[in-house]
Amino acid sequence: MTKTQIIDSNTPQMLGVIGKISAINYLKEKKPLSFVRTYGCQQNVSDGEKIKGLLEQMGYGFAKSTEEADFIIFNTCAIRENAELKVFGNVGELKKLKKKNPELVIALCGCMMQQEHIVEKIKKSYPYVDIVFGTQAIQTLPKMLLTVLEKHSKVFDTQLHSGVIVENLPIHRDGDIKAWVPIMYGCDNFCTYCIVPYVRGREVSREPQAVLDEVKALVDAGYKDITLLGQNVNSYGKTLEPVVSENGEKIQVRFPQLLKMIDEIDGDFVVRFMTSHPKDCTRDLIDVIADSKHISHHIHLPVQSGNNRVLDMMNRRYTVEKYLELVEYAKSRIDDVAFTSDIIVGFPGETYEEFLDTLKLIKKVGYDSLYTFIYSRRRGTKAAEMPDCATDEEKSKWFRELLKVQDEVGYERYLSYVGKTQRVLLDGESTSKEGYLTGRNSQNILIEVPADKSMIGKFVNVKFTKAVKWALVGEIIK
Ligand code: SAH
Ligand code: SF4
Ligand code: F3S
Repeated sequence: MTKTQIIDSNTPQMLGVIGKISAINYLKEKKPLSFVRTYGCQQNVSDGEKIKGLLEQMGYGFAKSTEEADFIIFNTCAIRENAELKVFGNVGELKKLKKKNPELVIALCGCMMQQEHIVEKIKKSYPYVDIVFGTQAIQTLPKMLLTVLEKHSKVFDTQLHSGVIVENLPIHRDGDIKAWVPIMYGCDNFCTYCIVPYVRGREVSREPQAVLDEVKALVDAGYKDITLLGQNVNSYGKTLEPVVSENGEKIQVRFPQLLKMIDEIDGDFVVRFMTSHPKDCTRDLIDVIADSKHISHHIHLPVQSGNNRVLDMMNRRYTVEKYLELVEYAKSRIDDVAFTSDIIVGFPGETYEEFLDTLKLIKKVGYDSLYTFIYSRRRGTKAAEMPDCATDEEKSKWFRELLKVQDEVGYERYLSYVGKTQRVLLDGESTSKEGYLTGRNSQNILIEVPADKSMIGKFVNVKFTKAVKWALVGEIIK
């Protein structure tokens, strides 16, 4: 097991560097603006909020577009080839901005930068990029930026410091109702298709107290919807030493215990979490959710495939039977429990018959919604070397079949909510319907209700009157 090292970002050196950059920025005629674009998952969004926190401390404002910015950062994702292509396309477009303004500083960070061949390509084909840093170098951003500003040289820091947790980085949160709280970093699972363990390093868990303090502070600050993040939240705590309770008892805090401790925090808020790996999902966890006040009745439980041979090739380490057992137990224990999942179509060697098993499973579980992907080859992963038998056309056809099945299953699920009344957190204005607000119920379904803007941030009881493809429509019940 990797030994965890916790680093406090508030060192005198760090504060000194931040101070120097603020001074440089303060002397400028106009407050310099930064622009951060984040690609990929919530973990990356959370990292993006830390980057913005540092930018704010260094005296930057935030621009609405790349055109207005003095400092541009793209926080990248490597999960599929099209994610990477999108980044390269967007970086290519920055060339003309740099030509117009040679003082513009451009940085690339995140998961893509943790791959050697990508960094080589950037050095060769995108020489106007000034800073490249990896997923574990966020805290070094001020130092790197100072080098660029003072010495006009390029800086690359893509070392993977496995087992390191940086606490106390400033956070500029994107919203004031919803917040992300990482409880762990990295991944040790090595699913054979996946690049994440290579670009995010070994799995490490934050100390329970650090997580509790952050959640408490968010609740005190008025946040109402808190999502705990990890690539596999169900293995939380594996790297932690036991904590000693007041009566001297040693307690090993794993995910169910952590959720329970968070649930005991006073206040009106909902707690969500992602992602649950089925191999580590336990009945304990389901019991904690069932008996909780604040935990959402929604489990995002990525199954990837409904066929045991494919699951084995994927190194997922559970069977369809074990998965269904968990689902059935959760359905029996948690009121109105909702499931969502991730599915990969066209894993190397998958046959059409095996794909049909996935459709069967989807119907059996009855997912509210799915995140569906066509398999994408990732260099350096095990699956990249596996022989493939289906063509791209076949995979696209299977994919369309999958979407059609899920459309029907999801709509059926949504219809089952019509007539029910549930507590809903109103979180913003609807962009499609004037006079409507959007919200989320415990199952994390998008809700639309006619209501005044002043209601944003409040919990209300909503009676659902209609199901549409991606949402439930309802009215507020007094
Ligand atoms: N840690 C999470 C998933 C993170 S990645 C988990 O284990 O569930 C999000 C999703 O992207 C995965 O669940 C998978 O469905 C998909 N994915 C990952 N690698 C992929 C690849 N090479 N091709 C297609 N989809 C992929
Ligand atoms: Fe990737 Fe598997 Fe880790 Fe999820 S659990 S991040 S799919 S290796
Ligand atoms: Fe992408 Fe990295 Fe997340 S590869 S999905 S941003 S962990």
